[in-house]
Amino acid sequence: MEFPDTRPRRLRQNASIRALVQENWLTPNDLLAPVFVMEGKGLKEEISSMPNYFRFSLDLAVKEVKELYSMGIKGVMLFVKVADELKDNAGTEAINPLGLMQTAITEIKNACPEMLIFSDVAMDPYSSLGHDGIVQDGKILNDDTCEILGEMAITHAEAGADFIAPSDMMDGRIGFIREVLDEEGYEDTGILAYSAKYASCFYGPFRDALDSAPVDVKNVPTDKKTYQMNPGNSRVALQEMELDISEGADIIMVKPALSYLDIISIAKQNFNTPIAAYQVSGEYSMIHAAAQKGWLDYDSTVLETTLSIKRAGADMIATYFAKDIIRMIG
Ligand code: PBG
Repeated sequence: MEFPDTRPRRLRQNASIRALVQENWLTPNDLLAPVFVMEGKGLKEEISSMPNYFRFSLDLAVKEVKELYSMGIKGVMLFVKVADELKDNAGTEAINPLGLMQTAITEIKNACPEMLIFSDVAMDPYSSLGHDGIVQDGKILNDDTCEILGEMAITHAEAGADFIAPSDMMDGRIGFIREVLDEEGYEDTGILAYSAKYASCFYGPFRDALDSAPVDVKNVPTDKKTYQMNPGNSRVALQEMELDISEGADIIMVKPALSYLDIISIAKQNFNTPIAAYQVSGEYSMIHAAAQKGWLDYDSTVLETTLSIKRAGADMIATYFAKDIIRMIG
């Protein structure tokens, strides 16, 4: 055998051959765009820790969603910023059929029926204590929280959501939500389950966006580690995904994405259910920060990180870069 027998560089010689042998590509069909909605009219507020990302009043959110659809985005993840005076420890506003989320779902669906709406189901934006569940004696109550999540899901389905997206990590909530949706006749409303959601520092900017961080008062946990998963573990991710699939999840999600590519990969190897990955707020903000400093090139960093999430096995990626990515690949 002559040296070198095999020359992998032959397939990297020029852009044409590189394109022909490229296994993974980003397309608009891979992307879900998060949309933050707030009260008011004609308002567009930049989120301080997320450069060039905005909270919109509903009238402008509707315009934004139409624009996203015209760019090729097929799904939006809806989140709402709730006024402080409406927050409590019981999810009262979360289950208000005329609340901002429910109104937003209906108006966006009416204005852009083809856009799929994935509505966030969790108590934290509505919680005076900043937790995804009811807090009692320093603990997050699991089963009582599931009752609220079930009611929330019904109001979202009623408003016209295509997929309910529970992001709370309570045990058993997927099965519970599936059951109540079916009971109410919403068997066609899907569930995208945040199945492998880690207790991550990368959610910081999102909590700024919605003012939803856990509050620092006595007898309230200052973090979400009793329900979100430990970053040191991977087998529990398999367990959580298995549970959610068996309870009726249509799509499972891994979150965050970049630090958890191994989890996306084992999800792909182990399950046939479509996999979503959430490139979260901190992943967005750190790339912006480095680019602002001139330390990283914005476009190539965005494309490389997002492509790596696809390569790891994600069928869809929720990302604040969605519009930018389409501009780059367009
Ligand atoms: C809350 C929720 C969070 C995110 C989505 N839903 C934050 C949290 O769990 O504290 C984070 C998304 C992001 O950081 O982009 N249920």
